[in-house]
Amino acid sequence: MSGKYDIGLMGLAVMGQNLVLNMVDHGYKVAVFNRTTSKVDEFMAMPECKFKGNSIVGTHSLKELVAQLKRPRQVMLMIQSKDAVPAPDIALYPKIAAIDAVIEELIPLLEPGDVIIDGGNTHFRDTERRTKYIEDKGLLFIGTGVSGGEEGARKGPSIMPGGTEKAWALVKPIFQAISAKVGPKNDIPCCEWVGARGAGHYVKMIHNGIEYGDMQLICEAYWLLKHTLGYSNEQIQQTFAEWNKGELDSYLIDITKDIFTVKDKATGQYLVDLILDTAGAKGTGKWMSQLALDLGAPSSLVTEAVYARCISAMKEERVRASKVLKGLGNKPAALPKDFVEQIRQALYASKICSYAQGYVQMQAAAKEYDWKLNFGEIAMLWRGGCIIRAVFLDRIKEAFDADANLENLLLNPYFQNIVESAQGAWRNVIKTAIDFEIPVPAFSTALSYYDSYRSAVLPANLLQAQRDYFGAHTYHRTDKPGEGPFHTDWINERQK
Ligand code: 6PG
Repeated sequence: MSGKYDIGLMGLAVMGQNLVLNMVDHGYKVAVFNRTTSKVDEFMAMPECKFKGNSIVGTHSLKELVAQLKRPRQVMLMIQSKDAVPAPDIALYPKIAAIDAVIEELIPLLEPGDVIIDGGNTHFRDTERRTKYIEDKGLLFIGTGVSGGEEGARKGPSIMPGGTEKAWALVKPIFQAISAKVGPKNDIPCCEWVGARGAGHYVKMIHNGIEYGDMQLICEAYWLLKHTLGYSNEQIQQTFAEWNKGELDSYLIDITKDIFTVKDKATGQYLVDLILDTAGAKGTGKWMSQLALDLGAPSSLVTEAVYARCISAMKEERVRASKVLKGLGNKPAALPKDFVEQIRQALYASKICSYAQGYVQMQAAAKEYDWKLNFGEIAMLWRGGCIIRAVFLDRIKEAFDADANLENLLLNPYFQNIVESAQGAWRNVIKTAIDFEIPVPAFSTALSYYDSYRSAVLPANLLQAQRDYFGAHTYHRTDKPGEGPFHTDWINERQK
């Protein structure tokens, strides 16, 4: 017997609850379940659910949930990741076992052709493994990124599905209905098929890594405004508000501007000034960085952003070190009149490098894992609903429309011009940060990437010589292309 509900959703934390309400707003009937069943009853008792009539049904077991569903059944898992932990502990990621256990429990309840959907921030290797495992059982699997936090889930997230391609046609109507929409007529869904197996979760991980880079860059800009120009919170707020009207127009700049307006009711102080400077992380930025290393892709912005969170979390040690390790204290007396604009340009140029790195990593991953990624379309998935949504993603789409095989965003004329014209400001901002002894790891790694990438020759000739000297690792010669590898007996050849 078939049930009458379109989709089942397990996991009623914030994202799960809001996705359910979003689905119901779009005319879908949803059955819900949560391991702690009191959560189901609490959710069903919420005023918002009461108004939804028989569009939502609460269930107290997976079996009951499945029994409520139309065939072929779709069961979406929104199993919560671990609460934020201090950055050094981000290796802890205990939800893997939880998802596998639920899948084991679900499989015997389902029939061939039914779909299991994982909508959490899952490591793509787990999604690759699960796609095969679930397909072998005759079922279909979707591993999808869902971005946008609570508000996005409720009003329209960005959705990045991968998994079993055959399942896409089944989940597409509901996914596209609930997703954010963009375009002049507001009718382009920020949800398209990304690719086979773990491709959706990989792209979501890159989204998160870019999010880490964007956030770190914004934090560095804030610190420069505060500690070079001595800006007050009001001035910082106005600056971000101004920046948000131009090229940097984005969700993250927008919320940053808002943050600088919020005061603590009890003390009357700006809340941002009362927040402990130790960043948490759940691990997706670290994954991007680890996987970049696996591919040999130089994603230095996300890596620096992860390290910046790690060092921020070493609060007590930093406080101790601050009493021991001294700088020079020679701050420059004057700053250029347009220094705020210089910071803006440095931020934009660095952001372009960060996205360039993210796209290079996706290109390398697509080759390595055999996915057919559409890079322009990925920019449009991120254009609305998600945390990194930004006007400039239109430019990325245009860049890949102009050349689907673009090697690096920096080589697209639009981005090339921006970075070239910003580089005077960019270099000066970093020099000034050095003089003021303000750490700018993301700004400076972005510039180093730019300078390395545009260097036809790098000092790796010496590095190869060193490797060959101590380990006979061999090298190739510029004067004998196509020949080699060569080895030299450096000890006997050296001049004493
Ligand atoms: C989103 C966010 C969301 C979350 C990440 C990053 O796309 O909605 O990326 O997934 O913010 O989990 O969180 P951390 O900063 O805690 O790693």
